Amino acid sequence: MLPARPLLVAAAVFLLLLPVHVAIVAAQGFRGFSYLLNCGAASPTTDSRGLRWDPDGDYVSAGTPGVVSLSGLINPTLATLRTFPLRYGAKFCYELPVDRNRRYLIRPTFFYGALFASSSAPPPPVFDLIVDGTFWTAVNTTDDALAGAASSYEGVFPASGRNMSFCLGVNPDYTDARPFISALQVIQLDDSVYNATDFPTSAMGLIARTKFGSTGGIERYPNDSFDRYWQPFPDDKHAVSSTQNVTSADFWNLPPPDVFNTAFIAEQDAPLVLQWPPVPLQNDSYYVALYFADTLPDNQGPLTCI
Ligand SMILES: *[C@@H]1O[C@H](CO)[C@@H](O)[C@H](O)[C@H]1NC(C)=O
Ligand SMILES: *[C@@H]1O[C@H](CO)[C@@H](O)[C@H](O)[C@H]1NC(C)=O
Ligand SMILES: *[C@@H]1O[C@H](CO)[C@@H](O)[C@H](O)[C@H]1NC(C)=O
Ligand SMILES: *[C@@H]1O[C@H](CO)[C@@H](O)[C@H](O)[C@H]1NC(C)=O
Ligand SMILES: *[C@@H]1O[C@H](CO)[C@@H](O)[C@H](O)[C@H]1NC(C)=O
Ligand SMILES: *[C@@H]1O[C@H](CO)[C@@H](O)[C@H](O)[C@H]1NC(C)=O
Repeated sequence: MLPARPLLVAAAVFLLLLPVHVAIVAAQGFRGFSYLLNCGAASPTTDSRGLRWDPDGDYVSAGTPGVVSLSGLINPTLATLRTFPLRYGAKFCYELPVDRNRRYLIRPTFFYGALFASSSAPPPPVFDLIVDGTFWTAVNTTDDALAGAASSYEGVFPASGRNMSFCLGVNPDYTDARPFISALQVIQLDDSVYNATDFPTSAMGLIARTKFGSTGGIERYPNDSFDRYWQPFPDDKHAVSSTQNVTSADFWNLPPPDVFNTAFIAEQDAPLVLQWPPVPLQNDSYYVALYFADTLPDNQGPLTCI
């Protein structure tokens, strides 16, 4: 059945479902147990959004603070890092008090400035991330480091105890350089966010979170209350924009209302075909949330989804 009117897709989220082994003070601007840690820092720093990032020393006992020898960094949290010893098979962990009945967004960031400090520096290390004992992903900053960029990973994990442990694992298969971390965000989510997922058996690793039709910057906190990042996805042929007063407070995943101000619209009598997400996918289980906004005048008939 064809849509009775053009179909608009405003935004979407694509998350990889990860198997899970059953097994204090909120950062400014966020609820519950939330942390913005500037790894290796000696004192708090404030970013361009007015968010305060605290030193990580209270939550980790291993590792050595260090500085990135690069001046003029736009993001102040990338200027320091914490480096861990290259002890094969070792795990180095952050222990963060959490509410055991809640879910958390975790976003570690890695910026390997040393590559630029010296051309003879070894290639960036590759290592594992482990949350509450469950392998999450391998970190490989090589491509981002060559582009002079930081690497971020994002996942959603259920708390399984009073502390959540976030660990870097040395993997001798990968590397002979020491694991490191530049920043760590742990943000408590509202209960309704991603609640269609069976968190006792699954966690989620982000593949893509997209604001279709946007040519602007990444949308994040304060627009997104949990500092989720909505990446722009421009397309001359299908993009439309308008200013709508969309109320998204009823949506369980609480997308920021602003993502509905741009969209892709199908051409008359033609399907809207997208290459999304823009990365190859493995045969696995995924969670996909698509958001549609009916932004045309009321006299054009009801929206029919097929
Ligand atoms: C929980 O985390 C806090 C802060 O990192 C730490 O002091 C405490 O030892 C941890 N408790 C356990 C049981 O690991
Ligand atoms: C890390 O990424 C680089 C560039 O994509 C690749 O050449 C290298 O093999 C990767 N390392 C590991 C251990 O996967
Ligand atoms: C998700 O949360 C919403 C809002 O609290 C609730 O109405 C809904 O039943 C929940 N869904 C599931 C699958 O738990
Ligand atoms: C954040 O929201 C404000 C107000 O709706 C809007 O003007 C701004 O463009 C949004 N930021 C981004 C990056 O989309
Ligand atoms: C959106 O809401 C604001 C405040 O309620 C109002 O001033 C504005 O005119 C509305 N915009 C549209 C496009 O309806
Ligand atoms: C994907 O994995 C499932 C479960 O392991 C399997 O049944 C299915 O045949 C696989 N599909 C492909 C295209 O490999």
